[in-house]
Amino acid sequence: MNKRIYLDTKKETIDLAYYIGPLLQRGSVVSLFGELGSGKTFFAKALGAFLGIGEEIDSPSFVIFKEYHCGRFPLYHLDLYRLKSEDELLDLGLLDMIETGITLIEWPEIAQDFLPYQNLKLKFGFEGERRFVEIEADEDLAEHFA
Ligand SMILES: Nc1ncnc2c1ncn2[C@@H]1O[C@H](COP(=O)(O)OP(=O)(O)OP(=O)(O)O)[C@@H](O)[C@H]1O
Ligand SMILES: [Mg+2]
Repeated sequence: MNKRIYLDTKKETIDLAYYIGPLLQRGSVVSLFGELGSGKTFFAKALGAFLGIGEEIDSPSFVIFKEYHCGRFPLYHLDLYRLKSEDELLDLGLLDMIETGITLIEWPEIAQDFLPYQNLKLKFGFEGERRFVEIEADEDLAEHFA
């Protein structure tokens, strides 16, 4: 059972991103699950701020992905909501992105069979009015989320 962390304020999401940020490195993959408006892009923005990416990160949903090369590591921010096929996914060059930087994936369901690994799965949601996230970490990161 994953621990449920409540994110009642934006500050709590920012704090979470600044906790997770130092655990990531080149090659890290973080999947951001969760319904519309649950806070996936806001988390990505906060992680971008941690990485020192000056330009404001916004939602990549119309362009599928955006990349930022001005921070500590390249950041690839994908939103697969509008992706129509698995072929399109492969055309994006996902595996090259993963090798080169930190990859954050919103609406990652369609990519599940193609991702070599996922270091963290963050599942955002609502419990009544409250926002929460559940964190599933791989073996290497598990101790940080006990
Ligand atoms: N912890 C929080 N506290 C308060 N507001 C938040 C929090 N996290 C996100 N928000 C706000 O909720 C709105 C929706 O968030 P966001 O765009 O991150 O959702 P999303 O999960 O990316 O949605 P989509 O599936 O449409 O891409 C934004 O206005 C954002 O600022
Ligand atoms: Mg979004």
